Amino acid sequence: MEQKDSYNYKIRVDNLNLHFAANHVLKGINLNIPENLITALIGPSGCGKSTLLKCLNRMNDILPDVRIKGRVLLGDEDIYADDVDVTNLRKKVGMVFQRPVAFPISIYENVASAPRVHGVSHKGTLDNIVASSLAKVGLWDEVADKLHKSALTLSLGQQQQLCIARVIASEPEVILLDEPCSALDPISTMKIEERMRQLAKNYTVVIVTHSMQQAARASDYTVFMLSGEIIEACPTGEMFTSPKDSRTENYITGRLF
Ligand SMILES: Nc1ncnc2c1ncn2[C@@H]1O[C@H](COP(=O)(O)OP(=O)(O)OP(=O)(O)O)[C@@H](O)[C@H]1O
Ligand SMILES: [Mg+2]
Repeated sequence: MEQKDSYNYKIRVDNLNLHFAANHVLKGINLNIPENLITALIGPSGCGKSTLLKCLNRMNDILPDVRIKGRVLLGDEDIYADDVDVTNLRKKVGMVFQRPVAFPISIYENVASAPRVHGVSHKGTLDNIVASSLAKVGLWDEVADKLHKSALTLSLGQQQQLCIARVIASEPEVILLDEPCSALDPISTMKIEERMRQLAKNYTVVIVTHSMQQAARASDYTVFMLSGEIIEACPTGEMFTSPKDSRTENYITGRLF
């Protein structure tokens, strides 16, 4: 699969293969991810979307029986090189999961814990990071007067916004979102999509989604995967109006599951 376009790329995946024991899950993945845009990863359940996403910040490394071969470049840095500090990598490439994982501590602490881990201890600085991170995800106005209440008092949609704020507080370069809206109602989903659009001005965003509508309306670039391979990767408008591969067309029109 060849990508012919004129983007600046933030991430380059080069012949990436991943096995879970005998299961060959990612098969020779070559993919460039455009900088400061939203890339959607789509494809049927089990095709390897989450696994590929997790390879972008080395979240699969910790699993038993996993073998990973190939290269992933973040800018010029090979993130699988021996001398890479994985904690620092995950600060640069943050991840948000399907179910919001708000910690049972205050709203403030949920966000402040990330910069604190990275060495920020000055209260004024932490206050500023918390306020600006919450503002960037559109949650500040709703929580400004209850920062010290438990994060579990928030709605599920607000908790997901909080999780994104927590990632932002680490000042990442890339934000990975694995089906961030699948547990949310349509209004919360719309809020997250609006915020993603704002965030993409400053960050490279990669989102896994099962919703064709979400990919079509919220992303700039779309990658279609099938059985561990990338079938097609192109600007979103092109994918949804003139897919080049019949398998892509079958999937986006609902004829392939
Ligand atoms: N921790 C793991 N250990 C072993 N096999 C795994 C693990 N995680 C995923 N797999 C396998 O890897 C393959 C791809 O799974 P993955 O979760 O990446 O798919 P997906 O496209 O994200 O699916 P879904 O849309 O259902 O989330 C599947 O065959 C799955 O069983
Ligand atoms: Mg998945």
